[in-house]
Amino acid sequence: MTKQIALITGGTGGIGTAICKELAGNGVIVVANYFPADKVQAESWLDEMRKEYEHCYIVAADVTDYSSCGDMLESVTDNIGSIDILVNCAGITRDKTLKSMSPDQWNCVINTNLNSAYNVTQQLVQGMMERGFGRIINISSVNGQKGQFGQANYSAAKAGLHGFTMAVAQETASKGVTVNTVSPGYIETTMTSELPEQVLQSIVNAVPLKRMGTAQEVAYAVAWLADQKNAYITGANIPVNGGLFMSS
Ligand code: CAA
Repeated sequence: MTKQIALITGGTGGIGTAICKELAGNGVIVVANYFPADKVQAESWLDEMRKEYEHCYIVAADVTDYSSCGDMLESVTDNIGSIDILVNCAGITRDKTLKSMSPDQWNCVINTNLNSAYNVTQQLVQGMMERGFGRIINISSVNGQKGQFGQANYSAAKAGLHGFTMAVAQETASKGVTVNTVSPGYIETTMTSELPEQVLQSIVNAVPLKRMGTAQEVAYAVAWLADQKNAYITGANIPVNGGLFMSS
């Protein structure tokens, strides 16, 4: 059986790295996208990954830029092969209460966390449908489901991402392409380590499991959705949040 190929945007980040490792461990060829300015860090990330996983690559692109994403997809297709699995994982925070949120803080979060999914997926989905197989997994957040004080930008982008999932899932279902969302809660990554200590503590206290999650726990859910056998779940939003937000 030929190996599958996965592209993970933001693949060298905390959750992205865990997803790359989990998929690579399952025999998938992994291509981690990184922001062009982070070339040096991405190359040392690749050196580390290659110690354990032979079939691992990196590719630069600014996911907020449609043509940069087009160039990235062309380069992956030409040099590695057709992409079977896409994980839209690139994301940033610019937390600020709305009254003092600048247009730049709003726009860069919407562009990086939401428009990025359009920029990559739109240029990839037709090929997946023609080949009759695809797995698209969008990494949203518990804060897209419940909202979060100080995150009007991030909550809007992450809620939008699941709307995107549900719409695209309907457009691709008949062609063997599933589209799902994974919504992590508070996960031990650089993003959450930058939160004020008392804010973080009050959040952890509200989590029924009374701890933060690990990137590995998010990666399990992503790899499960990415599995070929997982063909009858589409348009779903899988929470990995320790019970912080529950919905029927
Ligand atoms: N509910 C009610 N009040 C709150 C609050 C909350 N959850 N959090 C802060 N406040 C209050 C503060 O106590 C403060 O009150 P006072 O003015 O009376 O002292 C006030 O709000 C702060 O208001 P400011 O307008 O000065 O705040 P700011 O614009 O500087 O922003 C903040 C502060 C950045 C929002 C800060 O509170 C913060 O970092 N909050 C956490 C946001 C958060 O949870 N981010 C998640 C990041 S991790 C992630 O995003 C990953 C994921 O997917 C889960």
